[in-house]
Amino acid sequence: MMRTLFTAIPLAAALVTALPVAAEDPAEVLRGLIDKTSAPYLMQSEQNLMMMEDNPALWTAEEGEKLFRFPRGNNLVSLETCDFGKGPGVLEGAYVEMPRYFEDTGKVMDLETRLIHCMKTIQGFQDSDDAIKKRHGSDSDHMKLQTYIASKSNGMPWNPPMNHPLEKAMRDAGEVMFYRRAGSHDFNCATCHGDNSKRIRASVLPDIHTPEEWTKAISWPAFRVGHDHVRSTQHRVRGCYWQMRQASVAAGSDASIAMISFWTDAARGQPAIIPDMKR
Ligand code: HEC
Repeated sequence: MMRTLFTAIPLAAALVTALPVAAEDPAEVLRGLIDKTSAPYLMQSEQNLMMMEDNPALWTAEEGEKLFRFPRGNNLVSLETCDFGKGPGVLEGAYVEMPRYFEDTGKVMDLETRLIHCMKTIQGFQDSDDAIKKRHGSDSDHMKLQTYIASKSNGMPWNPPMNHPLEKAMRDAGEVMFYRRAGSHDFNCATCHGDNSKRIRASVLPDIHTPEEWTKAISWPAFRVGHDHVRSTQHRVRGCYWQMRQASVAAGSDASIAMISFWTDAARGQPAIIPDMKR
């Protein structure tokens, strides 16, 4: 009996270290990428890297955990039965595998649209409730919940599934959008994010063809120092269209999810940095 116990313990320990456990600290994930690549986009702000240890978004995630577990909405139940793609209540690694196709809705959904779906169908919230309606700001339920759920994928490789035809179709539609020139300046996303080390004044822009730096670009929710708020992926998509002086994309629309599918696929295999901190 003792003998089996003794051989079992080192084996169990070896198994534990071999599992892809999420890194504790997003700053460590970023440092790991910098050590590997020295990409100028990743290295551009030493101050930012220093501040990441005290990223206010870490508190936002903590508040999100409380909200997630608390019975809320008309039905007074928690979100603990919500399926983000890996089974009811499973959050570990769920976010790095989104957007994905959901059988119950017949749609490809990103984190935000899936969260709204669960808040409505499980908890009984309505579109007119602040919990659903208010999508932006560190004090919104959305940003708290999204930051918490996404942080359960910190350090894990982006791996959006491409098994269902709609998952592929959404990714491909996002690619067309990324390269489509339009608007008064005839910009597309690639104008600013298609080459390495391109700059706007002092800011180095992330290059979509360099997955090691693109992973930081798409790592949202993130605290934006200049906004003094935690921001979501959907907020970034909106900002990018504004950046191009093009018409806005509706939050949660298939177009917005297509863009997110494409940009997540472009970072495939690289570790998510969540929550991140941006200038
Ligand atoms: C005119 C140049 C320009 C165009 C065109 C542009 N962006 Fe950006 N993008 C930026 C700048 C500058 C930032 C840095 C964010 C900031 O501080 O505002 C940024 C930030 C980003 C980020 C987040 C990076 C980070 O870590 O902060 C993503 C993702 C992104 N853009 C994607 C896109 C997509 C998708 C499009 C097309 C819909 C697009 N951008 C069009 C200039 C541009």
